[in-house]
This record gives sequence, C-alpha cells and structure tokens, in this order.
Amino acid sequence: MAEPTTATGGLLAAIAGTGRDAVRGGYSRPVFSTAERDLVSWYEAELTARGLEPETDRNGIVWAWWNPAGLPLEGAVVTGSHLDSVPGGGAFDGPLGVASALRALDLLRGRGVEPARPLGLAVFPEEEGSRFGVACLGSRLLTGAVTAERALNLTDPDGNTFADVARRAGLDPAGFGRDEEALARIGVFVELHVEQGRGLVDLDAPVAVASSILGHGRWRFSVHGQGNHAGTTLLDDRRDPLLAASRVVVAVREVAAANPGTRATVGRLQPVPGGTNVIASRVDLWLDVRHPDDAVTAAVVAEISRWAVELAAGEGCTVDVREESLSPTVDFDPALARRLGATLGGVPALATGAGHDAGVLAAHVPTAMLFTRNPTGVSHSPEEFCTDDDAEAGSVALADVLADLLR
Ligand code: GLV
Ligand code: MN
Ligand code: MN
Ligand code: MN
Repeated sequence: MAEPTTATGGLLAAIAGTGRDAVRGGYSRPVFSTAERDLVSWYEAELTARGLEPETDRNGIVWAWWNPAGLPLEGAVVTGSHLDSVPGGGAFDGPLGVASALRALDLLRGRGVEPARPLGLAVFPEEEGSRFGVACLGSRLLTGAVTAERALNLTDPDGNTFADVARRAGLDPAGFGRDEEALARIGVFVELHVEQGRGLVDLDAPVAVASSILGHGRWRFSVHGQGNHAGTTLLDDRRDPLLAASRVVVAVREVAAANPGTRATVGRLQPVPGGTNVIASRVDLWLDVRHPDDAVTAAVVAEISRWAVELAAGEGCTVDVREESLSPTVDFDPALARRLGATLGGVPALATGAGHDAGVLAAHVPTAMLFTRNPTGVSHSPEEFCTDDDAEAGSVALADVLADLLR
C-alpha cells in the first residue's frame, strides 16, 4: 500500500488492514464483529492519545468531548459517523467521517480555537443495518425511532438476537431506548461522508454540502413453498419458492421502471435451507426502495406486494411481507446548510440517495452533512474511493464549519 500523503490519509491507513474480506473483496465489518470492535478500539485509542475520554452510552454510541472550558454539554456541536460496513464494502463509508472528526479536532487545536460550546465526537453502531436489518439502529434507538423491544428482538443471519450480541459486547439490554439526556447534548450535528455517487466528479469539486436524503425503506418478503428432493420431485409437483422469488425480483424492476424516480433493489435473497440438491422450503428476499416522494415509495411497495402474492400463488407458494425500516425524505436544515456553504465559500449543494445517521437525527436537531469526492462514483463496493488530498480537503472543510459553529 502507498504511503499516506496527508494526515487524514494516515489515520485511514492505520485501519486499512482491519476487516478485509478475502472472499467478497473489500471490507466486512458488521456491528459487534471482531473487525468492527477492533476499529472501535483503534478509535478509542486515538481519542485517548488526544486526551479525550471515550464513553459508550446505553445505546452503544461511543462519545467523546472536547470541552476545555468545562462547559455544560447540553447544546454541544457534535460530529461523527460509523465504523460498521456492508458485506464486502469500501474503506471509506463510515471510517472517513470518523477519521475526519479526529483530524478536524487536531486542526482546531492547531489553530488555537477556543470553543464557546463543547465539541462532541460520536460513533454510531449498526448504521448499515447489515447485521440486524434495520439501518441506523444506534441513532434510531437514541431518538426513539425504533423501540428497544423491537431492536432487542432483531436477529442476525446466524439467529443471534441483538440483545445477546449487545450483551456479549458489554452492553446492558435493559438500558437501550430513547435517551433524552444524550439527545439534549446535541445542539447541532454535522456528519462528513464519502460521496456515494458521482456528483462531485461531475462538478469537479472535492467537497459539497448535503441538501437532502432520498426517502427509503426496507422490506422482507418471505416466500413459503415446499422443501423437497431435487431428483425425485417432478417439475409439475413442485412448490418452489425460489422460482416465485425470481419472478418477484423481475417484478420489482418493472414496477420501479413504471414509477419514474424510483430506485428499487433486491440485493439479498436467501433460500432456506440452501442446498444444491434441495428445493427450498422458503426464500427470504430483502427489498430496498427509495423515492423523493414518500407516497410513491408506499405505492410502489404496495404494488410489488400485490405482484408477490400473485406470482407466489402461481407457483403454489404463499408470501408474507414485513417492513424492516422506513425513513422519510430528509431536507436538511436550509439555514444551517447556507451557513456551511457561506463558511466554505461557494461549495456545491448535493442531494444523496444514501441513508445516514444524520438523516435520523435531522428530525430532532439541526443537522448538516459534508460530502467528499469519490472518483469512482461507486460505493457499497470495494471500488469506493477517496484520494488522500480530497480526504484532507474534507477534514479541513469540517474543521472550518466546526470552528464557525463552536463560536
Ligand atoms: C446506507 O448506506 C444506505 O443508504 O443504505
Ligand atoms: Mn455510511
Ligand atoms: Mn453505507
Ligand atoms: Mn449509510
């Protein structure tokens, strides 16, 4: 690997070996896995080296405060992101915002900034929802957008409950849920993130201020058929849920194409039990739908659900549908976005189709995001990228906006 050429690049280089996935490529850092916990330990050591005291709250969010004047924490300026990843994801989705928070702190101190409000650094667990299904689980728990009861009963692909996995990570399941005290500490939240499309490449700019997040949701379709023998079961005698699920995947694309602006994806499909010579008894299929108009998202999912019932029946199967998470379209606080834009002097504003903890927090506190150019325009993939120079430009921009907000 090339030597880092910037301080932000150096922070990222230190974790470049953690959670590499030799099978899928890229990184697999599911929440509470060894890889993700190693990243959290690295982050805590970086905080400690800076004289900050990391603390994990009752929802598993790691906090640290730069508060040289010993001010009350209520109404602080908070920045941060996440350290978990999708399966086979890139190096920057999450860690870039965490590294930039550390780098911005160093820059602020180097500039001799004397904060008139405390600066909080936060790392949220299970932003991707790649282990327990619900995206932004940490910020949803914090804000009460998901109940503790629902969260604790979520299961990972191996059947472990969130409660058990959290307990093994040293958290007390009884403590999960909306946390008024932690929420009151966030006066304003700013998350820096690698851009997950090619907006900044097309604009030929290293940094943007976010304008909005596309509304999105996730649904789990379970198609039930009859498990049976691949050799002895005549084609006419089969009730094969994988055949039905395959027809549903095609219907998803057709319904999306008929509703302009829709992004609909089946990225995960799991035949149960999953054997070469076994007709599946059940197939679970996860649907991700996004559209700027939340009513269109609802209509698209309703239409796909109707098709699923009909297509399943055609194969002698049944289907049940369960919503896993739903986030409305978020328009970030326009006054705050203008303030960031003015501080940074004419950087572009960009909408995104990707979800973030900032989107969950935006319903409760003034929230903003910065995006850093991704030259490949690709994300949730090993091809996701950010040059050291652009990562540093993002950290400097973050330091600039934090310096302004800390006045
Ligand atoms: C998370 O990154 C998402 O947008 O799904
Ligand atoms: Mn992310
Ligand atoms: Mn992501
Ligand atoms: Mn995300």
